[in-house]
Amino acid sequence: MEIVICKTREEASRKAADMITALVRKNPKAVLGLATGSTPVLMYNELAKDVKAKKVSFRQVRSWNLDEYYGLAPTHDQSYRYFMNENLFRKIDIKLSNTHVLNGLAKDPAKECKAYEAAIRRAGGIDLQVLGIGSDGHIAFNEPGTSLNSRTSIVYLTPSTIKDNARLFFHGRLDEVPTAALSMGVGTICEARKVVLLAFGANKADAVKGMVEGGISQFCTASALQAHNDAWVFCDEAAASKLKLRKYYAWRSATKLGSR
Ligand code: F6R
Repeated sequence: MEIVICKTREEASRKAADMITALVRKNPKAVLGLATGSTPVLMYNELAKDVKAKKVSFRQVRSWNLDEYYGLAPTHDQSYRYFMNENLFRKIDIKLSNTHVLNGLAKDPAKECKAYEAAIRRAGGIDLQVLGIGSDGHIAFNEPGTSLNSRTSIVYLTPSTIKDNARLFFHGRLDEVPTAALSMGVGTICEARKVVLLAFGANKADAVKGMVEGGISQFCTASALQAHNDAWVFCDEAAASKLKLRKYYAWRSATKLGSR
């Protein structure tokens, strides 16, 4: 796992966007795994700038998102499909028909999740997966206690995630946050050939510490990425503040990025 520690979240978002832009320039038909939440928004804006500046085109890119609230229609303004359309897809030249988000209204969630995995496989697997991290160490909606081999399935949110998300998405109204979601599994995520995880702010410092320097454990599902051989964490100083070896990681990642 490479840890890129930046002074600001803007700088970290730009560096992460550089990695995605470089990958899509090299492979215009890349398959991307995408995330929602507040964290990737700045990076999505940077990708939009790159498209506008004609540095890259997403016309042939296909994408699969990590998760969707169970019970929300794609048109619901708090759904992750709506979020992606607003925060990325309408700002870049990707074809909407090439973008995939789990159907939160699926009558048979198990069937929906199986079909989603099969579609990813048919596309050749995910070349690069974007991730955020929850304050409890979750990736996608894989909460503490989820098997590290889990596949895409219906999952249940912890009270702390419901609280975090109510603050950001549901105008603080806890009772409006769905308590279940359809989510890619930890095993599914770890199959991506490259992973770019973003983490900003002091409220992510414990989760980042657990992910990077804790043992691999289902109590911090992001820690499964320790076993991935091309996982990059782009964070600001606040999110990295609890890492014991932070100076070493910063130097090592700068050296590796500089030599690419
Ligand atoms: C979003 C997702 C979640 C978020 C995480 C952090 O698709 O899968 O794991 O990445 O909850 O959310 P923010 O970025 O809002 O702090």
